[in-house]
Amino acid sequence: MARILITSALPYINGVKHLGNLAGSMLPADVYARFQRLRGHEVLSICATDEHGTPAELAAAAAGQDVRTYCDEQHEIQKDLGERYGLAWDHFGRTSSAANAELTQHFAEVLEAKGLIEEVTEQQVFSIDDDRFLPDRYVEGTCPNCGFEKARGDQCDNCSKLLDPIDLIDPYSAVSGSKNLEVRDTRHLRLKQTVVEERLREWVNASTDWPPLAKSIANKWLDEGLRDRTITRDLKWGVPVTKDGKPREGFENKVFYVWFDAPIGYISATREWAEKTGEDWQRWWRTDKGADDVSYVQFMGKDNVAFHTVSFPATLLGSEEPWKTVDKLKAFNWLNWYGGKFSTSNKRGVFMDQALELLPADYWRWYLTAYAPEGADAQFTWEHFQGAINTDLANVLGNMVNRVLKFATSRFDGVVPDGGEPGEHEAWLAGEVDARLKAIAEHYDVMDFRKAAAETRALWAAGNEYLTRAEPWSHFKTDKDKAAVGVRTGINLIALSAIVAQPVIPTAAKTILDAIGVPDENRTWPTGKGADLLDALPRGLAFTVPDVLFAKVDDDRVAEWTERFGGAD
Ligand code: 2FM
Ligand code: ZN
Repeated sequence: MARILITSALPYINGVKHLGNLAGSMLPADVYARFQRLRGHEVLSICATDEHGTPAELAAAAAGQDVRTYCDEQHEIQKDLGERYGLAWDHFGRTSSAANAELTQHFAEVLEAKGLIEEVTEQQVFSIDDDRFLPDRYVEGTCPNCGFEKARGDQCDNCSKLLDPIDLIDPYSAVSGSKNLEVRDTRHLRLKQTVVEERLREWVNASTDWPPLAKSIANKWLDEGLRDRTITRDLKWGVPVTKDGKPREGFENKVFYVWFDAPIGYISATREWAEKTGEDWQRWWRTDKGADDVSYVQFMGKDNVAFHTVSFPATLLGSEEPWKTVDKLKAFNWLNWYGGKFSTSNKRGVFMDQALELLPADYWRWYLTAYAPEGADAQFTWEHFQGAINTDLANVLGNMVNRVLKFATSRFDGVVPDGGEPGEHEAWLAGEVDARLKAIAEHYDVMDFRKAAAETRALWAAGNEYLTRAEPWSHFKTDKDKAAVGVRTGINLIALSAIVAQPVIPTAAKTILDAIGVPDENRTWPTGKGADLLDALPRGLAFTVPDVLFAKVDDDRVAEWTERFGGAD
């Protein structure tokens, strides 16, 4: 049994996330966690809201709330939504917690003691009309890299390049729109990433387990040359800057940069989990306390890769303390909305709360996993979504379950029938089961979610193909034993189909397994030969027929949703 630590990029607190955010980190992390738990591994799944920095302050101001109240409310909303999507976190924490402040201050002090932090005078954009500095997202303007006109001070949404606010062309204040800006001196702490550059390079090169997208982004960053980065900001909301455990002189009105404290949130959320459960957080995070056995897997969108492959590791490695660093890092491309971007600020696309008003979580979990933006960006359209749901879930899986269980109810008294011997059709299906189960597990292990889902669907499709070949309904009158074998094999295949579908569609899978009466201890990842797995249920076991598992999405609904959400525009 392995120990697997799983974190997904911490969603910003600034409002409900859209389906692209869900598809690119939280959902695949959960699918992977569920798969590894089914295999019997010890899994710890951690997430949290990322509550500091300009996104939080700006969103709170827009909502007319003080930032703490805003964060309290939004944290509960995001936690509740995550749970309603079946995201089975062990803990969903907050980066505004006392534990995170303490650990962030610890890292800064240790890094300073190692000579990796220096105090510097920096130039920052100051808004005369707003009477304040405008760090990061407080300033917008034209991207010096790609020319995009609404680039934010910290990063361009169009080309993903990390920016310094003073690099923006034609900058303006995001608070007031004022262009009455000047550059002023201000004191800050700077992390000397260049000093750890060689250590980082060695570490990245030794990380053989990263899928290609993550590795290429990390190397590109290192090859372009690291820059020393300022890790404090002229803001009120955030982790206070300390020295020797006391407020740092001259930094009373400053806090740590959100990207410095946010990833530390993975560790502090684990600490909170440990306090809640009486567990030991150090065996997950300290290599001197047992974490060298842990496989640590991170999930994130591609814009987050640099922070996780360079900035956060620079903090961990630079401390020279025995912290666990990431082993496997899975990065996703963008899910686009009709060729354009999902956008939180422009309310473009479908958001997690809205999607659940339309259909239950499993529909979305399936779609966003089976058509995840993995190898390339993916396009969301209502028509594509409709086709996927109707084909994969309603026709392939739903029909198989219904056809077999209804027939078995009317002809075999609602029990798994006895009698008959397996023949050529059953041998064919057993071969399919062997091949599909192996493929699904292999794809999950390397975090190829689309392929894992495609093989899951292929297993369901093999069930339908088997029924076409074995035709238990046409044998019923002439050869009841033959019909019994067909139905028995069919019910076993349904149970198997549901067991392997649990990571992606946990609710529907549970409905099926409950209806068939598969005990909890038999819902783990199937091992053994296909032929045995297809005859695993006790004969005579009584089952019920579940209600329609997945309703088809008809054209009227597509028209209604297109109207409501805009569709292509
Ligand atoms: O891009 C984002 O949504 C960030 N809130 C992710 C933070 S991940 C981590 F490092 F905290
Ligand atoms: Zn750009």
